[in-house]
Parts: sequence; C-alpha cells; structure tokens
Amino acid sequence: MRYDAPSPTRWNARSYDSSFGYVSAHGAPLVELLDPQPGERIVDLGCGTGVLTAEITSRGARVLGIDGSSAMIEKALAQYPGLDFIVGDGRDFTVAQPYDAVFSNAALHWMGREPDAVISSVREALTPGGRFVAEMGGAGNCAALTAALSTAWREHGLREPDLPWYFPTPAEYATRLEKGGFVVRLLEYFDRPTPLDECPNGAADWVRMFAGSLLQGVPADLVESLLRRVNELAAPALRRETGWMADYVRLRFAAVRR
Ligand code: BEZ
Repeated sequence: MRYDAPSPTRWNARSYDSSFGYVSAHGAPLVELLDPQPGERIVDLGCGTGVLTAEITSRGARVLGIDGSSAMIEKALAQYPGLDFIVGDGRDFTVAQPYDAVFSNAALHWMGREPDAVISSVREALTPGGRFVAEMGGAGNCAALTAALSTAWREHGLREPDLPWYFPTPAEYATRLEKGGFVVRLLEYFDRPTPLDECPNGAADWVRMFAGSLLQGVPADLVESLLRRVNELAAPALRRETGWMADYVRLRFAAVRR
C-alpha cells in the first residue's frame, strides 16, 4: 500500500474537515473567550477550512481567515463564498489596517519554529488594546503518540524524526508574549483527552493525517510495519474499550497588545 505524506501545508482539506471536524468542534469555548462583537475586525490565524471563521462572522464580526495551506483556503472559499480568506504565513503576514483581535485555534503549534516572529506579526496586526486569543498544544501534548512514533522509527533502524510542532510550557509562552508586547490576561494549561472517533486504525491513522510529512523518505516497504508498531506501542496509553483517545494538552490564552 502507498501512503501519501502531505506536509502540514499540503493537508488534504477534505479529510481534515470531515474526519477531523473535532479540530473545529473543540474551538467553540475559544470563540466564547474571544467574545466577538458586532462590527469588530478579527483575523482568524490558521483558519483551516474556515469553520470557526464562519462562526465568528455569524456573531457580526468582519473576519479575515489566513492559512498557510492553499488547499485549506480553496476549500474555505468554496464553503463560505462571502467571507475573506487569504493564504499567508503566521510568521510574516501583514494587514493593511490594524484589527481588533487575532484568534487562532490549534494552529500556532504548526508555526512554532519561530514563535517570536509569529507573536511579532500578530502584534503588528493589532490595534493597541487589541486581543490575541488562542489555543495550541502545550508542553506534553501528544506525548504518548510521539513517544510511540519515535520508538517505532528507531526500532526500524530509521533516524528519529524531527517533529514539526512546538508545544511550549505556559511559562515559556507567557514570557514570549510579555516580551513581544502583550499583557497576558488569561492562561490555561490543561489535559484534553480527545477521542479519535474517525481513526479506526488509531494512532496509525493519526500519523497519516497529522504527521504524514514524517513518512516522506521512509522506504515504502517499511511503512506498514512502522505504523503497525506505532499502534502497538501507543495502545496501552491511548486505546480504550470505546476507541482511541489522543493525549492532547492545551495551552489557551488571552493577551492584550500594550
Ligand atoms: C494538536 O492539535 O494538538 C495537534 C494536532 C496535530 C498534530 C499535532 C498536534
């Protein structure tokens, strides 16, 4: 069997939205924290297929969705033709007029190799007093998943993969926000075990969906055995009678531009 290995910026937008709709579903409390007001101008950074962009728009705000993946933006434009979406990079996006808020759900950990550049772009996009409201993976996120992945790679004689995500501790990210010109008003750090309802093949399906880029360069004849081993190693921690559960840890914050 051949496995596609999309990079994070070339995700399959269709399966992201259907199988992994929980990414958007879990964003509802974050929209409440954002508390969008009619007429406010808001950026949805890492908007994916635009589900939360549309939800925030339904509260009366004018929202610009930005995502690094052109496939996601194409799907967002097709689903929500009246809304504004552009392809952009969190590390260096610019806007013509400052916004009242920047919102970001489950996306900052994909942009984290240069977290200060992201924070700086967000600051520049905001009016003074503007809000940065976001949720991302925090330290320890997916620990069992990634440990299983690294062990399986090693056992197959492969170099341990360089994981593409950034999962900071609350203290580290708060320090970056403060140094980057924000006042942190709320910071929460919590476990959020997440059912992988649409992953009948558990951790292996999760790897294909979210870590497909790591399979690039793996000899095709090793892939099935590698993913089978990921499942065996992850199962004791993540497999329940009711199905697989991802060990997600969230970092949720609201900060205000000084
Ligand atoms: C997350 O939402 O925590 C996540 C999703 C995919 C890959 C890594 C982390």
